[in-house]
Amino acid sequence: MSIITARDVTLSFGQTPALRGASLTVEAGEVLAVMGPSGSGKSTLLHCLAGILTPDDGEIHFDGRRLDTLDETARSALRRDTFGFVFQFGQLVPELTAEENVALPLLLHGVRRTAAVRAAREWFPRLGLDGLERRRSGELSGGQAQRVALARGLVARPRVLFADEPTGALDSLTGEHVMDLLVDSAREQGTTVIVVTHEPRVAAYAGREVVVRDGKVHSLAGEPVGS
Ligand SMILES: Nc1ncnc2c1ncn2[C@@H]1O[C@H](COP(=O)(O)OP(=O)(O)OP(=O)(O)O)[C@@H](O)[C@H]1O
Ligand SMILES: [Mg+2]
Repeated sequence: MSIITARDVTLSFGQTPALRGASLTVEAGEVLAVMGPSGSGKSTLLHCLAGILTPDDGEIHFDGRRLDTLDETARSALRRDTFGFVFQFGQLVPELTAEENVALPLLLHGVRRTAAVRAAREWFPRLGLDGLERRRSGELSGGQAQRVALARGLVARPRVLFADEPTGALDSLTGEHVMDLLVDSAREQGTTVIVVTHEPRVAAYAGREVVVRDGKVHSLAGEPVGS
């Protein structure tokens, strides 16, 4: 059963076309890798699927509902309650400690502070982050911050996790460990994962790979992906 469908999505930033008729169907529970050259439109596609950006044209459906025509209030509720994110850049709140950053989605769900922080802390040993719970993001290495962001993306057991190069700052061993955890958590929690990556080794963890080229989605074999 499909959970997300994009049909002929186009989006330009001023004169720069980022998506030129991108179509994609994502099955519920699958781990999908999105690959493709720098600047091809991967992040833009992810942001459209997640309701962060609104396409100029085309349609996006989530769980049988039209997503791209929802108003901002409805879309932000969906992002808060249903989706998890690991963004490509600058994602932790610098004023908060690592554990507070991870607890954030739970707090937004109305979980009490003590319970939210307790649940957040459980992720630290799993991600090799023992002892870093109270650090602020400026006191973490790039790879540590990335793992904190991953924990934050998963902590609220989202239906869909959108992860934009979640292993970009990690060495290959840590990257593999993180992908193991991502795939295991997805299976355990029934989370659908859409992961953008440049690394074939990371993509190998996914059940399926697609390639974005010039703002369109292709299968690994090079065929355009229909919806
Ligand atoms: N906010 C923006 N304003 C203007 N142009 C943008 C903006 N965001 C992206 N673009 C342009 O849209 C195109 C697609 O960008 P996008 O970030 O989706 O690429 P990407 O595939 O994620 O690349 P990378 O692998 O480098 O992260 C690029 O030409 C980029 O320069
Ligand atoms: Mg990108």
